Amino acid sequence: MTPAQPDRARAADDDYPNMPIEPSRLDDGEFPGLELDSPRPEDGAALWRLARDSRALDLNSPYSYLLWCRDYANTSIVARDASAGPVGFITGYSRPEAPRTLLVWQVAVDRGQRGRGLAAAMLDALARRTGDKLGVDVIETTVTPDNTASNRLFASFAERHRAPVTREVLFDAHDFPEAGHEPEVLYRIGPIPVPAVAQQH
Ligand SMILES: CC(C)(COP(=O)(O)OP(=O)(O)OC[C@H]1O[C@@H](n2cnc3c(N)ncnc32)[C@H](O)[C@@H]1OP(=O)(O)O)[C@@H](O)C(=O)NCCC(=O)NCCS
Repeated sequence: MTPAQPDRARAADDDYPNMPIEPSRLDDGEFPGLELDSPRPEDGAALWRLARDSRALDLNSPYSYLLWCRDYANTSIVARDASAGPVGFITGYSRPEAPRTLLVWQVAVDRGQRGRGLAAAMLDALARRTGDKLGVDVIETTVTPDNTASNRLFASFAERHRAPVTREVLFDAHDFPEAGHEPEVLYRIGPIPVPAVAQQH
């Protein structure tokens, strides 16, 4: 444990599960009019549409996105446009057996907003907030080998924060009920150095 880690663990004990995420406006010119916020149940339909329109994510039921926005808001984040609603999101959860590990479940950015660093900004903000509030210092996610953008997003996060990465197949193609699913490769990023978790993107 580093000297700061007991404080982070204590913060996790004190704050979980009622961690409010303060909206933080991303109006540095790169993302005019967008703010990062925790999702609310009324965002659930928009998150489902973003997942559907990505044509890359496994689309879950509308109900699951509504529930996620209600019960996992503290470990998820949306990029919200004041007029158009959510234009990007990351859903995640703190692993029940390893609460300091954030499992990133899905990431999506509206096509019109891609390639400008929005997913990276959301991931940095979510890592910082869950680090501060829940003591999270490891991020896990699974990525299919053919998803170049997603592979780059997480590899780049690890490089930016100087965190070690391991990769191994978590779910093989034959684990899925339908044929044609790519294997899901588990990225495990961490421990993420505390100062890096506290950095702004
Ligand atoms: C993956 C996704 C969320 C990235 O969103 P984004 O806002 O465009 O990503 P960013 O601009 O923050 O880029 C993050 C990194 O990925 C790289 N990247 C983004 N899109 C890329 C692409 N099409 N090809 C190669 N690299 C790409 C960026 O260059 C950047 O890397 P860098 O930091 O080394 O420069 C977006 O493409 C998307 O919604 N895809 C469909 C859903 C999906 O596949 N989700 C991931 C699986 S859970």
